[in-house]
Amino acid sequence: MKRLKLENDRLMMRPLEARDSGAILELVVAPEIAANTFVPQPYPPEAADEFIQRGRDSWRDDDAYVFGIIEKASQRFAGCMGIHPVSEHNRAEVGYWLGAPFWGRGLATSALRLLLQFGFETLKLNRVEAGHFDHNPASGRVMEKAGLRLEGLRRQYVMHREQYKDVLWYAILREDYAAQAATERKETAED
Ligand SMILES: CC(C)(COP(=O)(O)OP(=O)(O)OC[C@H]1O[C@@H](n2cnc3c(N)ncnc32)[C@H](O)[C@@H]1OP(=O)(O)O)[C@@H](O)C(=O)NCCC(=O)NCCS
Repeated sequence: MKRLKLENDRLMMRPLEARDSGAILELVVAPEIAANTFVPQPYPPEAADEFIQRGRDSWRDDDAYVFGIIEKASQRFAGCMGIHPVSEHNRAEVGYWLGAPFWGRGLATSALRLLLQFGFETLKLNRVEAGHFDHNPASGRVMEKAGLRLEGLRRQYVMHREQYKDVLWYAILREDYAAQAATERKETAED
């Protein structure tokens, strides 16, 4: 697919660019990112360039769509969010991290909403899913606020830093997304 941008009043999300490597290296050091994602730990200097190149290749091959999240007010690179389709089932899995200076201001939720719009309206997916570890409830909250529903606990679902870990699993269906969009339209009309 042609590389494209997503945008709302607070954020711009665009495919990663070579110039993002400095910001990625600066932000990815937060221990909470290593604790809750699969980013390499420690993160060697060349990993950012490799990640950016993989992101570009994935866009070209339609394997995954990885976006850099730019906070409009500061024009700063805040983090990354990607969506990985499983085409035979018309579903996709989402993953994300934000740098510590950007936490607690609703940015991840705002970015996930934009990504869901991309998933359902552009990719025409039927289902979008995501998971988090039980020691990361903030991420579960992001998923819930964006409209995903908790489906259950996948026991010892992943090997994370040499430990099997349970994953709380969430999803939103195309029909949930349509119902949510209709409710939002109704609320806007009533304002
Ligand atoms: C998880 C993460 C993406 C959240 O980003 P964020 O921009 O701070 O998220 P938001 O501000 O949109 O929402 C966070 C919500 O979690 C809540 N929260 C924060 N800490 C919490 C906790 N310990 N328990 C429960 N809820 C918590 C916040 O209050 C907020 O909910 P609210 O709006 O109802 O008050 C960010 O902290 C991060 O990148 N962490 C490290 C990497 C990571 O965990 N990635 C996700 C892997 S699944």
